[in-house]
Amino acid sequence: MNTNKNEVTTHDSSRRKFMAWGLSAIAALPMGKALAASCGLTPAQTRGPFYPGGTAFGTETDLTLLPGATQSAAGQVIYVTGKILDAQCKPIEGANVEIWQACASGKYNHRNDPNPAKADPHFRYWAETFTDKNGEYSFKSIIPGAYPADTGWIRPPHIHFRVSALGYRELVTQMYFKGEKLNDDDLILNALQGAERNALIVDFTPSAAGLDPGSLTGYFEITLQKVARP
Ligand SMILES: [Fe+2]
Repeated sequence: MNTNKNEVTTHDSSRRKFMAWGLSAIAALPMGKALAASCGLTPAQTRGPFYPGGTAFGTETDLTLLPGATQSAAGQVIYVTGKILDAQCKPIEGANVEIWQACASGKYNHRNDPNPAKADPHFRYWAETFTDKNGEYSFKSIIPGAYPADTGWIRPPHIHFRVSALGYRELVTQMYFKGEKLNDDDLILNALQGAERNALIVDFTPSAAGLDPGSLTGYFEITLQKVARP
């Protein structure tokens, strides 16, 4: 690992900037949008074959820059923000949010991924975090590439989520990008219809000033089901 002081400083500075951004960016989101959600339960989706496993995650939420690196991951930079709520729209503090995804070329960092696309050695591929007292979480990442799932089936760009919290049913789902043409024919996304399908598609728009120039920000709200006591 390269421990050049300047490079570490660059990384730390970038990380601080990102951390400082986190809450203020969420606070700046239009409240109408956050509250417009029905707080209907977020639909589950398949975990897929490339889940990295519990020991692989780390609490660094910037997937675009590895520790000590000078080169960032390839791809369109995005900030994925959101809230974890219960069915009464109450924020859940301390929820564990894991994400995993392909790099910009559509390749996962998983030994079972048959995709011949080139892996990006500068990308983190997965991360986890915990929601704050407002139920908020945030990650910095890139838009993943599409990848072949089967003959005639290309999976659209998506990010896998696994969310767990004490007293709630664990949720595994996937987040999609509004406007992606491949969404129209995806067998997994289109197993859902109407509001449930729409709940997994996020509109990414230009980020607020102070964030990475040219980056996009999206808001993905997730509602968990409470476990009923017997
Ligand atoms: Fe996937």
